[in-house]
Amino acid sequence: MKVELIGAGETVQVYESKSSSRLLYSGLKEGADVPYECATGTCGTCKVKRISGEFSWLWPEAPARALLKSADDFLLCQCAASTDLKIEVRSKLKDLKEIAQRPQWLTGEINNSATVAPGVMTFSVKLSQPISFLPGQFMVIEFAGIQGGRAWSMTNEAKLTDTLDFVIKKKPQGLLSDYLFAKENLIGLKANLFGPIGKAVYDGALDRDLVCIAGGTGMAGMMSILSAFIASGAYLRNRADVFFGVRTPADLFFEQELKQFIEQSKGALRVIVAFSDAAASPEFIAANPLLKFDQGFVHEVAMREMEGHFTPKTRAYLAGPPPLVDGALRMLLLKARLPATEILYDKFG
Ligand SMILES: Cc1cc2nc3c(=O)[nH]c(=O)nc-3n(C[C@H](O)[C@H](O)[C@H](O)COP(=O)(O)OP(=O)(O)OC[C@H]3O[C@@H](n4cnc5c(N)ncnc54)[C@H](O)[C@@H]3O)c2cc1C
Ligand code: FES
Repeated sequence: MKVELIGAGETVQVYESKSSSRLLYSGLKEGADVPYECATGTCGTCKVKRISGEFSWLWPEAPARALLKSADDFLLCQCAASTDLKIEVRSKLKDLKEIAQRPQWLTGEINNSATVAPGVMTFSVKLSQPISFLPGQFMVIEFAGIQGGRAWSMTNEAKLTDTLDFVIKKKPQGLLSDYLFAKENLIGLKANLFGPIGKAVYDGALDRDLVCIAGGTGMAGMMSILSAFIASGAYLRNRADVFFGVRTPADLFFEQELKQFIEQSKGALRVIVAFSDAAASPEFIAANPLLKFDQGFVHEVAMREMEGHFTPKTRAYLAGPPPLVDGALRMLLLKARLPATEILYDKFG
């Protein structure tokens, strides 16, 4: 089916999409400037308006459908073309021909997994072919028997690789996370993956001081960003302040990896862990001399610690639950006066 996107300023892009394919994924595969954020039906960023043609819903219960106002509005990530379609997009369409790595459908299987904190596990997927991605990007992952894909960010260094590492939390009543956490052995479990996608990305060549604020497994993409911060040598001219929020000391994970980054950064990186529900004991603090600890909501701790330290080169990365990301966004825009273009985020709604 032919899909014609009509953007602001009379910009037009055309791509092909099968009747079984999500219009968002077909567009991304073909390099079209289709709007998106979560790619999985929760945020509403991919909302468009039908000008002509027919579409069908692949997941009619998608939460972001509640944000639509007319029967002609639909979500590119949850709909497929039934006929040729002409669609109105609110923004001006940019020419994306320069994208180094277009997202695609890939297959892979889990080749290791570990529980790293209560209700938090890491696992790796060995792909049938190597790919590269940008630090901070994510994949949409599907497993047989569970409807729909889930967005999970890569934690590993974003070089050409055939293995992607993830860290995921057990969502209360979450269908796929329940399934994965209940399974005794995940090794060999096959997955279909679409990606890499995501715009909250880091480029080590950019001259930016980083402020990373993450809650729980929001730390996933930050780990990939910090790998790039070290590997690219950006730490020699920029600094990174990382704020990692978890409930209690028992919920902390990635301590060893973070300590390694701190050692490699030669003083350019500091990591402050904020506990929202319980303070760290003196023994815990003594056992983790390279990490700093504080108490409270992580975005509030971050603003307190960063007061007077924002620079014209500051770029903020935020990831985690909506209250954290929204709270951090408000503070960074209104108090720190960071330009909106320098605040990149992934909201785990
Ligand atoms: C950009 C981004 C990056 C993320 N990165 C991480 C990460 O690194 N680590 C992490 O722990 N969490 C991450 N999340 C959150 C993660 O995606 C959710 O926690 C996860 O989807 C929970 O899945 P579940 O099956 O346990 O929960 P459920 O509540 O069962 O499902 C959650 C999501 O699955 C999709 N879904 C469910 N049913 C269907 C269906 N029938 N058809 C189509 N889609 C369906 C929807 O998107 C739904 O919101 C990220 C989210 C986003 C948006
Ligand atoms: S990108 Fe479609 S709802 Fe988020």
